[in-house]
Formats: sequence, structure tokens, C-alpha cells
Amino acid sequence: SQKWVLMVTAQTPTNIAVIKYWGKRDENLILAINDSISVTLDPAHLCTTTTVAVSPAFNQDRMWLNGKEISLSGGRYQNCLWEIRACANDVEDEKKGIRITKKDWENLHVHVTSYNNFPTAAGLASSAAVYSLAKLMNVQEDNGRQGSGSACRSLYGGFVKWVMGKEENGSDSIAVPLVDEKHWDELVIIIAVVCSRQKETSSTSGMRETVETSALIEHRAKEVVPKRIIQMEEAIQKRDFATFTHLTCADSNQFHAVCLDTSPPIFYMNDTSHRIIGCVEKWNRSEGTPQVAYTFDAGPNAVLIARNRTSAALLLQRLLFHFPPNSETDLNSYVIGDKSLME
Ligand code: PMV
Repeated sequence: SQKWVLMVTAQTPTNIAVIKYWGKRDENLILAINDSISVTLDPAHLCTTTTVAVSPAFNQDRMWLNGKEISLSGGRYQNCLWEIRACANDVEDEKKGIRITKKDWENLHVHVTSYNNFPTAAGLASSAAVYSLAKLMNVQEDNGRQGSGSACRSLYGGFVKWVMGKEENGSDSIAVPLVDEKHWDELVIIIAVVCSRQKETSSTSGMRETVETSALIEHRAKEVVPKRIIQMEEAIQKRDFATFTHLTCADSNQFHAVCLDTSPPIFYMNDTSHRIIGCVEKWNRSEGTPQVAYTFDAGPNAVLIARNRTSAALLLQRLLFHFPPNSETDLNSYVIGDKSLME
């Protein structure tokens, strides 16, 4: 019959890399060219809830983000959907009398609804949808890397390392928890949601282009990141904010430098992002000891990690003064990882 609908809902926390993953050595298995370290954001403040549904009654793939339908015509979404479909397996729901075979998925369409408990920020939300789709389609992957490699780091709270591994089959490429969320709970994370006019390059194609064309990426992956990983682990263990800030900012800047070193160059940050960096650098220097670390992923949004609540409150004051959310500053909103700061 054409009447049935099968649904899956999943909630996924977001993670922010402080030592970035950029570049795959195997695109199919999603194996990285370097280790990376991230911090998982508290799902109470920042997470994505996604429901995916499949039914023979659907005649096209559709997606809604925070209640608004978005176009799936862009290659990014289509590729992603097809990649997951290719890994789909047989699914059976005995109660409903539904049986979907591996082959059936090619002709079935899905509806995806995704709710963020924070203002939509490009580059922060995609893994949740992929995760739910993989669950719906019974994709056999237990490494937590479906579509997005970095999503595997959200398997744990606190600080998490994704070890690149040595094996060709990826068996030793896994997420490892470093410290739990209580270890360094003074940190406060603020995200400045910067409006971006230009279309961003997807991480998959961006990484491919960097690995193929950048002369710097090999130096980064082989010489720079391995040392930084060791230093970063130590800084996290010791809660050494000065070293943590130095490494986080330097690594974000080097990631964007290899993007610029790609041919054609990839620009993820915009003018506003650059001005925020300038503002934070100036403040940190004037204080003597760093108060805030910044890091930017594959988009213009600034992720700011304040050493404690006092510096977070001061940071917010500064940001709101220099970058009030409006079209002139190119800023959309601020998302705060700690709600009590708003009280
Ligand atoms: O996992 P992906 O394909 O979404 O790539 C993530 C890349 C960065 O966010 C820029 C860095 C990282 O380590 O999260």
C-alpha cells in the first residue's frame, strides 16, 4: 500500500574543533590526514533535533529547517542524500508490516525536518540530519562518521580527540574522550552568527581541493598538527587557558590559510569575521593574559571561548558595542552556551 510512513527522530550535539580536521586520505571511509580535537557543546543550549520520514507517498525529497522549507536543489544536499542512500540496508518494521529492501531506497523519497535550539547557523547543523537519515536507512556504520567526519567527535561530551589511525580499513580511526564536560566547566562559549552572502564551499569538496592543490597542507598535517595535538592535550589536562588560546587561534588561522592556499582559493571567513579576530587579539594583548580564544569552521561564524563567566560577560559587552546585530555589521545574533549570562 502507499499509506505507510516510517519515521526516526534523533538529537545530536554540536562540536567545535580547536585543532581542525581538514583533508581526507580516504573519501569513502572518511579517514582524516591528521588528528583533531574538539569541544562538544552542551545539548541543553545548542543541539539539533531532526525527524526524518520515508513514505511511498512522497514524490520528492524535501527538507524544513526550523519550520521553513529549504531548497534541496543544491548539489551539496543531493550528493549527501545519494551518498546515504548508497549505504542503505534492508529495513523491517514488523508491527507496521513494512519491509524496505536495499534496492527500494533508490526510488523512495524522504522528508526531513530539523529544529535547532539556536538561530540557524550554517556549518553547525548538518550532521544531525545525516545521523537521523543513517538511522532510518539502517546504515551500518558504528564509527559515527556518516557524511561528516567531524560528527564522530559528538559521541562524547567534553573534549574529544578523533584519532586519524593508521589502518587502511579505518578500524583504528576513532573518537576518544579526553576529559568530560565537568573538567573545565569555567569555559563559556559564545557564537557570533555572521550573515554570509556568498555560498559556502562544502567541506567535502573544499578538503578535496585543498589536498589536491595546496602546497601547505602536507606541512600542516605532518609537521604542525601532530605537535599541536600533544600541546593541546596537555593544555586541556592542566586547564592552561593561555596555551589553549594560543593553539586554538593559531590552528583556526592555519586552517583558513590552507583554504586560501587552495586553487581556486576558498574564503570561509568574511570581513566581519576578520574584524572580530582583530578585536579579540587586541583585547587579549591589552589584558596581558588571554581572555578569549576564537575559532572559525567552514563558514564566517565566530566561535568564541571565554576563560570564565566574567570574561564572557565583558566579551559580550564589547561585541555588542562594536558589532551590534544588524545588516551593517553583518551580524545576525549571538548564541550563548550559558543561558544564565543573559539573566
Ligand atoms: O566533518 P565535516 O566534513 O563537516 O568537516 C568539518 C571541518 C571543520 O569543521 C572545518 C573542522 C573540524 O574539525 O570540525
